[in-house]
Amino acid sequence: MNHDAAMAVVDGMDILWAAHAERYSKVKNDFYLNWGIVNEAMTYGPFDKVVYYEKPLLKKTRQFYAGQYSNALNYTEMPQCHLDHFGIKIDEYIKHHDSHAAAGYFTSPFREATILTVDAIGEWDTVSISTADKIWVKRKETIKYPHSLGILYSAFTQRCMLCT
Ligand SMILES: [Fe+2]
Repeated sequence: MNHDAAMAVVDGMDILWAAHAERYSKVKNDFYLNWGIVNEAMTYGPFDKVVYYEKPLLKKTRQFYAGQYSNALNYTEMPQCHLDHFGIKIDEYIKHHDSHAAAGYFTSPFREATILTVDAIGEWDTVSISTADKIWVKRKETIKYPHSLGILYSAFTQRCMLCT
């Protein structure tokens, strides 16, 4: 769980349903899932496979490198603990930028694509280039933390907020 917790139900290549937790909790940018969103997802039947959008332990290595390490366990670091509350077992964790790339590609009308992912930071990745061809997304190039356009953008926008 992180900012804007969300769920999606996918059947093969089809997105059957997707929602943000804030729609149910009425908490803007809600970090956490709630029974409202989980119950609606479960109306599609039992989950065959639950996939989580990042690799928490890989992320922890970057946080350790960056001096952001904490011994405190929380839901952001241990998503399975949060999902245990709902009786959901995570079957697979995939890299954060692969999640972004797959979401962009599989919701596009293109059969072949080159995908540019730029955010503040994934586990370590800050910029990645992937290619996609019909059924799979392959990572080609990556820029890693601490080199991040997204963090630079965040710093500038935070500075601008201080000026208003
Ligand atoms: Fe991201």
